[in-house]
Amino acid sequence: MASLRSIIPVMAALSGVIAASNVSCPSDLPLSCHNTTAVANTCCFIPAGQILQTQFWDTDPAAGPSDSWTIHGLWPDYCDGTYPQFCDSSREYTNIKSLVSKFLGASTLSYIETYWVSDDGDDESFWEHEFSKHGTCISTLNPSCYSNYQTGEEVGDYVKTLVSLFKTLPTYDWLKAAGITPSTSKTYTSSAIQAALEAQHGAKVTLGCSGKYLDEVWYHYNVKGSLQDGTFVAADPDGSKSSCPTTGVKYVPKN
Ligand SMILES: *[C@@H]1O[C@H](CO)[C@@H](O)[C@H](O)[C@H]1NC(C)=O
Ligand SMILES: *[C@@H]1O[C@H](CO)[C@@H](O)[C@H](O)[C@H]1NC(C)=O
Repeated sequence: MASLRSIIPVMAALSGVIAASNVSCPSDLPLSCHNTTAVANTCCFIPAGQILQTQFWDTDPAAGPSDSWTIHGLWPDYCDGTYPQFCDSSREYTNIKSLVSKFLGASTLSYIETYWVSDDGDDESFWEHEFSKHGTCISTLNPSCYSNYQTGEEVGDYVKTLVSLFKTLPTYDWLKAAGITPSTSKTYTSSAIQAALEAQHGAKVTLGCSGKYLDEVWYHYNVKGSLQDGTFVAADPDGSKSSCPTTGVKYVPKN
């Protein structure tokens, strides 16, 4: 993840946007889900500390580029497969597009318009749903964690981390490198798909299917520090939610 954190300031400098907040955290906090005693500073430690970067492969209707998976969201799980949701009704923003534009700039907005797309065409409502349902439950994004907090600043941090992680998880390319490519005729085994992604990510992933059709992959992490500035460590799933058949998995083209 070092590369991610070095890319962000460069992007911010180029587009001249407001720098995201700087929650500085002590370095001796435990990795999330690995603490043995309660950690009081939840601005630097995420109790719902298994963080999932979830991705879609939408084919019916198709959404996003034909040679890329797309972003579903960034979700906090308690460390046992259960999860909090809709944690702060006062932060169910309805202007995410303008918040992204304000805090991250036009190039990030354009990026998510390509890669964080809804299959019903209403991208902004989808982004709002993801932040309201999941983003409000990530403790380090709480407004009280910020100095000189500006309304919606934490949405910028949520999207910044989401996009940064997504860019390190090129599911389409990883599957292709293992000979797993979209096809209307071929079928694959879950174990072959799992092995290809696990080898790259460094931990098991969760595969999602609708019937026999592969349409989701979830990558799981624990975090040392905050969502904003922490180090992400690949983790096996905290619960088993894979929904794909063992054999006969279809991975069909988007067009
Ligand atoms: C964050 O804090 C560190 C250490 O104080 C500083 O070097 C860095 O410039 C700060 N970054 C931002 C974006 O404010
Ligand atoms: C880890 O820290 C969280 C937050 O303080 C706490 O709720 C949880 O009980 C802790 N886990 C253990 C095993 O003490």
